[in-house]
Parts: sequence; C-alpha cells; structure tokens
Amino acid sequence: MTASSTVLSVSGVSRSFSSPVLVDVGLELREGELVTLVGRSGSGKSALLALLAGFDVPDAGSVQVAGLPEGVCPPWSTMAVLPQSFGLLDELTLEENVASPMLFSGGPVADAMARAADLLGTLGIGKLARRYPAEVSIGQRQRVALARAVAGRPKVLLADEPTAHLDHATIELAVRLLLDFVAEGSACLIATHDPTLTARAHRRLELKEGQLITAR
Ligand SMILES: Nc1ncnc2c1ncn2[C@@H]1O[C@H](COP(=O)(O)OP(=O)(O)OP(=O)(O)O)[C@@H](O)[C@H]1O
Ligand SMILES: [Mg+2]
Repeated sequence: MTASSTVLSVSGVSRSFSSPVLVDVGLELREGELVTLVGRSGSGKSALLALLAGFDVPDAGSVQVAGLPEGVCPPWSTMAVLPQSFGLLDELTLEENVASPMLFSGGPVADAMARAADLLGTLGIGKLARRYPAEVSIGQRQRVALARAVAGRPKVLLADEPTAHLDHATIELAVRLLLDFVAEGSACLIATHDPTLTARAHRRLELKEGQLITAR
C-alpha cells in the first residue's frame, strides 16, 4: 500500500466527557479496506465515529479525511455515515432515500433512481422501493440506510452497527455489498458486535479502556 491510498488518518485523538472515553487514538484507513471496530457497549465506538465524521471535535489530536484540510466537515460524497439510528427521511420513499445522496450532488435523476433500485434489490427489498420508512420493518429500514450510505460511492463509509437488526442470511447480503463497495476503491470502518461481519473484515480493531488496539 502506498501513502496515497490512505483515505482517513487519525493521530493522537483524545476525548473526554465526564471521564476519558478515547485516549490517544491513532488509526489509518486505506482504500479497499473493510475494518471492524469492536468493544463493549459504552467503550466509545459511536463517540469515535462521531469524531471521524466531523460531528464532534476532539480535545486533542487530528483527524484527516481524503486530503481535506483538518477541521473541514467532509461532504457526503467523500464520507458517508450510517448512524446507529439510521437517519432516514420519513417524507421520502425508500428508493428516494437511497437516491438522495446522488440527487443532492446533482447527478442525473434516472441514474440515481436506477442505482437505488439496484441496491435495494441486492439487499432483498426491491419490491418495497415505493414504500415509506414508517411502512417497513426496522431491519428493512436498516438495509435502506446501508444502501443510501454506499449509493454515492463515497471514499469512506463510517457505519455504526449496520447489521444489528438483520438475520443471518440478510447479514450475508450486507457483507457482500460492503466487500464489493470497498473493492471498488473505498474504505469502510464499521462499529459492530456482529461476529459474521467481524470474521469477514480485512482488519479488526478494538476499543478497550479508551485505547484502540488490534483485535484478533
Ligand atoms: N455527548 C455525550 N455526552 C456525555 N457523554 C457521552 C456523550 N457521548 C458519549 N458519551 C459517553 O461516552 C461513552 C461511550 O459512548 P458510545 O456511545 O461511544 O459507546 P458505544 O461503544 O458506541 O456503545 P454501544 O455499543 O452501546 O453503542 C459512554 O459512557 C457515553 O455515556
Ligand atoms: Mg454505539
């Protein structure tokens, strides 16, 4: 791997709330990598993803994304986020939700809708494309959020427990989608408790007592 393939670089990041949550965290994410982040509930996984996404600011250290100047919140076309709570837009259909990153960045409507249909089909919910988020199950909503996160082919995807509501066979569909996504040159960091996902990752990291370590 060359230095130019690094898409996310984190150095010396610390963050405290009432007590220290992240202590001197360093991390590099490269094109083509699917990396999982494990750790006990409350260990700081979501807090770290929030810092990487630019939603929060570290007390110390630096976060650099895809060569952007530090402190600049990356555009969705560079870094997409799949939050633990999905963040779907209730007024849009499932296919419109998935197409939204491409539509907001000014891409052709027909291409965006075709890609949305393709992704929903890949995740086994193609027939639900015209429904609204309130009309589908929580696991179906989670798949829509995953499809939307990869739709615009961002350089980096940060996903917070993206398979938490899925059954084993559906997790397999999600894993294949994520592996295809990084194979096209993106990188993905996934906070997860899911052993299937962790087993298929290229690298495994763990947060333990505020420190980021390599997990087995
Ligand atoms: N905005 C905040 N204000 C105060 N404390 C916070 C804030 N965000 C996170 N924390 C604290 O930081 C710690 C880590 O929380 P975080 O949500 O990152 O855990 P997690 O590893 O994602 O857990 P889970 O697996 O349950 O999602 C927790 O003790 C939490 O209470
Ligand atoms: Mg969390």
